[in-house]
Amino acid sequence: MAIFLTGSTGYIGAHVASLLLECHSDRLNLLVRAKTEQEASERLWHAMQLHLDFPQFRDALETRISIFRGDLTEPHFGLDTAEYTHLVGTTESVIHCAASLNRKSEKSCLNVNLRGTLEVAQLGRRAHDAHGLRRFSQVSTVAVAGHRSHEVVTEDASIDWNRSDYDPYARTKKFCEHMVRELLPDVSRTVFRPSIVLGDSRRPETTQFDMVRAFVFLAGLPVLPFRPTDRIDIVPVDYVAESVVALHQKPNPAHEIYHLSSGTGSETFERLTHTLAESAGKMEPLYWPGLERNFSAVVNWLSNSRGPIGRSASLLKVFMPYLVWDTVFENSRVIAEMGRAPEPFSKYCYPLLRFSREHHFTYPYRPWPGPAGFVREDAASAAVASARGSHP
Ligand SMILES: NC(=O)c1ccc[n+]([C@@H]2O[C@H](COP(=O)([O-])OP(=O)(O)OC[C@H]3O[C@@H](n4cnc5c(N)ncnc54)[C@H](OP(=O)(O)O)[C@@H]3O)[C@@H](O)[C@H]2O)c1
Repeated sequence: MAIFLTGSTGYIGAHVASLLLECHSDRLNLLVRAKTEQEASERLWHAMQLHLDFPQFRDALETRISIFRGDLTEPHFGLDTAEYTHLVGTTESVIHCAASLNRKSEKSCLNVNLRGTLEVAQLGRRAHDAHGLRRFSQVSTVAVAGHRSHEVVTEDASIDWNRSDYDPYARTKKFCEHMVRELLPDVSRTVFRPSIVLGDSRRPETTQFDMVRAFVFLAGLPVLPFRPTDRIDIVPVDYVAESVVALHQKPNPAHEIYHLSSGTGSETFERLTHTLAESAGKMEPLYWPGLERNFSAVVNWLSNSRGPIGRSASLLKVFMPYLVWDTVFENSRVIAEMGRAPEPFSKYCYPLLRFSREHHFTYPYRPWPGPAGFVREDAASAAVASARGSHP
């Protein structure tokens, strides 16, 4: 029997997969988008090399991992009947981590998040009916809380169907939570809602650069259009992954829903910019909240331009609502379970930003060290890029 994990080629999913491999003995059934077995293995190696060296990875691949080459948006993930039956028969629990984070695309969020989660819930249903499912865990987001301003939101007060959402991503993730609860009422479920997941508190290296790019852009500005005392809820990926794994593996977690966030321990813009300025030996920026509207207009305009500035502006445009809402997410449930709070962003932000800038916002991936005949690294990267489509 195995844990079925979606999204293992992604940032959080790879952290979860590697932690399960390192600290637990379960087998893993991994859903991976790829045309061939070799491409699937290479895509996993890309995602996991931040955590495992190649011999460890290869050993896990041979002894603990079953790859199911499939897509969330296909019926039965596009698996043939024998593969799907095998997947149902061997799945003892589910961690559904995959999603489209393309906040601009209704279509992508509808297909990957809604139709995809329906497929995963149906798999959970079939596994539960066949032999009992130990747990269905779902990685959601604090964005399900919708429009907020100057609030501390608790897990149970987060979803309010009368509130508007900032984007299709938040709207579809909110319905995903509802759908799983409705379809699997008799299954033990856990909902994880991370806040802004940014960097790893243990090391500067990262493979996900979207938010980092937006932060580097902001950090370079002499004037910021924010209120300096507003808080921003950021959580490191290592805390998110450790919490997901610990609670998924726990026989009886105390709650169904957990915010994986910094909560009232979230830091202010002022604190973060002070740390960054001090570490880099630079002047601190000025704060001018009245500029927010003009700033948003400039960001909108720049987001249509090409090159790195256009890309950063485009990212900032989608993240902007989450930067100015001054809303944080109560995290006493996860602190009680984990026995500790996440590291504050100021403790590890400078090395993260420096690593990202020095590596031009790309991770220096190591190629698959296999013999000739394996897909070459540049071809594998192209396959990854084309499989990811337009996700920002
Ligand atoms: N990152 C954050 O700040 C943050 C904050 C709150 C919540 N979350 C939640 O955390 C989870 C993971 O996010 P992440 O940051 O790790 O995202 P990510 O790096 O973009 O990874 C997304 C994963 O989903 C997979 N996926 C997308 N479409 C798929 C499809 N049609 N079929 C199969 N797999 C598909 C991707 O596979 P490919 O590699 O093939 O593209 C990838 O493995 C998501 O549920 C997200 O909502 C993230």
